[in-house]
Amino acid sequence: MNDQLVDELIFTDEAEDRQKPLVHNKWKVMIVDDEPDIHEMTAFAFSNFTYMGVGVEFISAYSGAEAMRLILQHPDTALIFLDVVMERDDSGLTVAKFIRNEVKNLKVKIILRTGQPGQAPEQEVIVAYDINDYKEKHELTDKKLNTVLVTSLRSYSMHETLEQFNFELEKKVAERTIELKAAKESADKANLEKTDFLNFVAHELRTPLTSLRGFISIISDRFEAKLLPLIDTTDKKIQKAISNTQEEFGIMKQEGERLSALINNVLDLAKIEAGRVEWAKDKVDMAEIFKRAAFSTNSLFTDKGLELKTEIQGDGYIITGDTDRLIQVVINLFSNAIKFTDSGNITYKIMRDNKGMRCEIHDTGCGIPKEYIGKVFEKFQQVASAQTNKPKGTGLGLPICKEIIKYHGGDIWAESEEGVGSRFIFLLPLDENCI
Ligand SMILES: Nc1ncnc2c1ncn2[C@@H]1O[C@H](COP(=O)(O)OP(=O)(O)OP(=O)(O)O)[C@@H](O)[C@H]1O
Ligand SMILES: [Mg+2]
Repeated sequence: MNDQLVDELIFTDEAEDRQKPLVHNKWKVMIVDDEPDIHEMTAFAFSNFTYMGVGVEFISAYSGAEAMRLILQHPDTALIFLDVVMERDDSGLTVAKFIRNEVKNLKVKIILRTGQPGQAPEQEVIVAYDINDYKEKHELTDKKLNTVLVTSLRSYSMHETLEQFNFELEKKVAERTIELKAAKESADKANLEKTDFLNFVAHELRTPLTSLRGFISIISDRFEAKLLPLIDTTDKKIQKAISNTQEEFGIMKQEGERLSALINNVLDLAKIEAGRVEWAKDKVDMAEIFKRAAFSTNSLFTDKGLELKTEIQGDGYIITGDTDRLIQVVINLFSNAIKFTDSGNITYKIMRDNKGMRCEIHDTGCGIPKEYIGKVFEKFQQVASAQTNKPKGTGLGLPICKEIIKYHGGDIWAESEEGVGSRFIFLLPLDENCI
């Protein structure tokens, strides 16, 4: 068949066809045969036939070319009885090939009927053109034809139902995909807007805060150096006023520091969450990270008289990650351990685990009540207790640790017993475990 004719013939709106509802006024059955008697006999034999309460509408084609035109006019044809030898020896086969390969109609059932079996070897034809059945004309008595009609319509109707399900499913998936894409885009946009807003607010807060902290420092120094020597400190009331003032200067300095840390942490977390952090990819030994974090927090340990113990099993804890961010995690965990431990010691352990590396930081501090353990990695969750009734930090240290560990493909959690101590544990994939 020439290409131009094929193009003309297959010009149909496929999407529209697929949406057709599953309601049939009649089952369309096409008879393709160059012998008029066959049409008359078949139509006569099935004039009263019904399947699922629906009768049959016969469509007649007397040549291969006519059959190809009619199948395009009636894409909802359920069954075709197709003669093989008509205007040419292989007309029927050309029609079958056209329906399956060019129109891509895989739904219609095709039953080949031939009076000259030699023209269409059964096996080859059935496989090559997806023929549903192959009958020699003399085989098709009324009774047999009835069975063929029922089984073909049943199978067509099942195919149609499945196609409809499939179509509904695809439609739902497409709708959900569009919704999800839109939701993600708006969440990303909101996240970026939030970070921009936070950057702006942080900048606006930082400038006056820096000058406030500077003035507090200047005034307190001036008070100590210039004013205090001039004051008569023999009076008890004056002594009290001096110590109150010194204490208040201390509180102002501490709160100033806390406010600065809060601004920095809020910004840091927002930046990580918005995916705006540029992560370094260093090859680094975790034992070295712990060493550097311990060095940075050395004064905190000595101030509180806490001993730092080390247990490293073996060596070669090499990972690819952001050195500074990983040090930030360990510093956060060390500072927490120090902050919430009044006596005893803090131990860090590094060991291998089936998923890579396991790092633990144990303390002998106040511990965390059971009901709070799951919450300490959430933002601004600080446990109130007799020891920690005043917030000593921003409540963002652990959420930041969690984001950093998560970025490195790891996991972090806490275990604790109130009054006994806490263990913060994180797992990270080691380079040796990566494929
Ligand atoms: N080692 C620990 N022992 C007991 N409680 C802890 C320990 N580590 C964390 N917590 C509890 O978890 C809370 C949250 O910790 P997180 O590090 O997020 O905030 P923070 O230390 O209060 O402030 P920040 O780290 O931002 O300065 C703490 O306030 C504390 O109640
Ligand atoms: Mg902390």
